[in-house]
Amino acid sequence: MRHVKNNPKSILFVCLGNICRSPTGEGIFRSYLQQHGADQEIIVDSAGTIGYHQGKPADARMRQTATRHGYDLQSRSRKITPADLESFDLVIAMDRENLQDINHVHAAPTASVKLLSHFLDDQWPTDVPDPYYGGDEGFEYVVDMIAAAVPKIYEHLIGSEDTPNGRDNDS
Ligand code: 4NP
Repeated sequence: MRHVKNNPKSILFVCLGNICRSPTGEGIFRSYLQQHGADQEIIVDSAGTIGYHQGKPADARMRQTATRHGYDLQSRSRKITPADLESFDLVIAMDRENLQDINHVHAAPTASVKLLSHFLDDQWPTDVPDPYYGGDEGFEYVVDMIAAAVPKIYEHLIGSEDTPNGRDNDS
């Protein structure tokens, strides 16, 4: 039997379709945990604010780019639910539109909801740019921006209190 901590922390990455940016967040975060022997410490998942791609794997272009960087994207698209905003400790929105949409899913989430760029310095944009309708460089940028934020998100999650401390939305 694998040892699983009694009360692991949990993190949910959220974008619009849950086929590009948030699966990349989930995959890079999971890889970071594995590299640091911490994969039993934190539950990792991703979701979208729309259910249009429900059940689909990550976009093939996104998976190819992630694979080139050493990340395996395993997610299946699903839509975020109100229960997610009560069960996860930390919810990471890829852009400000995602953040607004999340706030419409639950009026008073117990999860801490933050923009990914909250964990980055000013050289990065506020929003992780949506790569869906663009070229290859957009997918590369998604990997670079998320990979830069993941260690800081990890430190934040591990350093935070066990009990979510109420509404903590970030904009
Ligand atoms: P994601 O990218 O939000 O990063 O998964 C998108 C995926 C699908 C669509 C838009 C963005 N779409 O319009 O179907």
